[in-house]
Amino acid sequence: MPDQGCRSTSEAEILRREEALRRWFIRDCDPIRREIDGLDIGWGGVQRWATARLPGSDSRWHLDFACGYGTFLAQLGWRFPHLQLVGLNIDFAGPHALAPALLRQAGVSERCLLVRADAREMPFPDAVFDSASCFLGLQDIQIGFGEEGVKQALREALRVVKGGGNITVIDELELVNCLFLERLKVVREDEYAPDVRWDRRTAEAVAKLYARGWAKQTRSGSREGAYQGALARMRADLERQLTEQGYFNPCQPIRMVVVERRG
Ligand SMILES: C[S@@+](CC[C@H](N)C(=O)[O-])C[C@H]1O[C@@H](n2cnc3c(N)ncnc32)[C@H](O)[C@@H]1O
Repeated sequence: MPDQGCRSTSEAEILRREEALRRWFIRDCDPIRREIDGLDIGWGGVQRWATARLPGSDSRWHLDFACGYGTFLAQLGWRFPHLQLVGLNIDFAGPHALAPALLRQAGVSERCLLVRADAREMPFPDAVFDSASCFLGLQDIQIGFGEEGVKQALREALRVVKGGGNITVIDELELVNCLFLERLKVVREDEYAPDVRWDRRTAEAVAKLYARGWAKQTRSGSREGAYQGALARMRADLERQLTEQGYFNPCQPIRMVVVERRG
């Protein structure tokens, strides 16, 4: 999105802001949580990698859907100081209640409007945004609403972005394939494989944390059942990885696809 008179911020400055935000983010966490949240996965390095690859345009109004805590909004705000940002999430409760404070702390809140809504039915008129993004949001939409939910959210993103605008999706591999819908021209594809090496103690804490996150996104059936199921899957995976390679990497390779909405 940088370009044509729109200056983007330097990598060193973004890194400085990211480190300051990370110190704030983990300030009250226990040591294991500090290790998990302090690493460049989920946010930080992966998001810096992604925003550095967003295509050039004179985009001004940008929608980030399934924005969660808002860490990707912060990165977008740092890298592209000219952007007016709208962050959409299904709720700003529980852990996501942190979003307004995080954006203030990141110094981008004045350029960012948060909207509580379901990405499958976005409360915006057609063609109001110049561009849109979704960072690791499709996976949560899939947990809650299945593949049809992912397709609905992508159709909504297409509806609210102007012809010629870009939609960038960063997520696990198969989900991103949903993007190959009609009227889309793929303008960029890239992949990132985080190199994380956790020991058993951290891996077991991560398994519980991720399983809780998984259960929270479940919208049908018992949350306790969803928690136990996710925990069992993660434990099986961590046992396999610890046996085979001696460390646990919780991250799937992440794929970034940029598509252009045809007019
Ligand atoms: C892993 S988080 C995304 C991380 C986020 N992009 C960031 O930068 O911090 C996924 C988010 O998707 C949200 N979500 C799940 N289903 C949704 C839906 N149908 N509409 C909007 N948001 C949804 C969840 O509440 C969660 O905050």
